[in-house]
Amino acid sequence: MTWIVEQDRTWAEWAALRILRVGPVPNHLAIIMDGNRRFARKEHKDALAGHTRGFHKLTEVLCWCRDLGINEVTAYAFSIENFKRSKQEVDGLMDLAAEKFAKLLEEKEKLEKHGVCIRVIGDLNLLPQRIKKLTGEAILATRHNTKCFLNLALAYTSRDEICSAMNELSQGVAEGQLMTSDISEELLEKCLHTRGSRDPDLLVRTSGEVRLSDFLLWQSGFSCLFFTKVLWPEFTIWHLFGAVFYYQRHYHTLTAARQECLALRQCMVEESDIECCHTKYGDKVSQEHIGAHASARKERIENFLAKLHEQKLYYLQQISNTSD
Ligand code: FPP
Ligand code: MG
Repeated sequence: MTWIVEQDRTWAEWAALRILRVGPVPNHLAIIMDGNRRFARKEHKDALAGHTRGFHKLTEVLCWCRDLGINEVTAYAFSIENFKRSKQEVDGLMDLAAEKFAKLLEEKEKLEKHGVCIRVIGDLNLLPQRIKKLTGEAILATRHNTKCFLNLALAYTSRDEICSAMNELSQGVAEGQLMTSDISEELLEKCLHTRGSRDPDLLVRTSGEVRLSDFLLWQSGFSCLFFTKVLWPEFTIWHLFGAVFYYQRHYHTLTAARQECLALRQCMVEESDIECCHTKYGDKVSQEHIGAHASARKERIENFLAKLHEQKLYYLQQISNTSD
């Protein structure tokens, strides 16, 4: 089963695609692929058969997204909570992931041709050694592709992601690379697993559950949330069209809310610079002091993030070079 699915469209699908493409199309779609086991039960099959169908559905959705012009997809493939499921199911899912990542590496040229960059978000250390190695290899092999992005959340929860970002920041402060006043929403965001990605515009959850289950909590604050009753393996292109249409209907209020938040965030950074300078220079504070403080802050942050990026790259090289 390939990662790059090519499908013919019916005339009705083409017509709907063309109409939807006239309006704003999400850049980034996040998906909680729920309902695989209920689907399997309906078909009198085991849970793993449901997850395998779920994987196939994901590859189809990626094809539909390409046709629609959605260039980034983040899919919740395995949460840290999922480790609590039966050993048989967890092992089965890990075998499935290993098989699919191995296939992905075989299809490296095809992915390059389509410009697909694969990223894995989550605590890779929680994964079995062979999956860790394969994910490292897949990330490194596709990291220069820039046309479309598939982010797979594996051993992921938002709370874990935010805690790990906090740890990185506190280490930066402890090592003297950062000052506590440098910590802002913007900087914390750059320490999340999703750094380098724009926030999802649209988040879809299938199977009738109406919660986020610790998925992209930070990133989806201003996303359009779309819940549908269909089980993930039964999701069709028409469900995706419905979700995109729902997004288009709410586009203006969503965009306004997001812009307001970004403006507020910028104000908070500027106020923090002024406050720091007041503490240091008292009434003698000048525009030059504030400008110099802001430049020094930016430089510290740049150096800190460059070092963090280097460490991540080194980590990926290390895990992909380990033996199985
Ligand atoms: C949720 O349905 C689905 C999952 C926990 C696993 C999703 C994984 C895939 C689709 C395959 C991913 C593959 C790779 C290569 C990463 P559920 O099990 O909660 O079903 P239920 O809600 O009906 O119980
Ligand atoms: Mg479920």
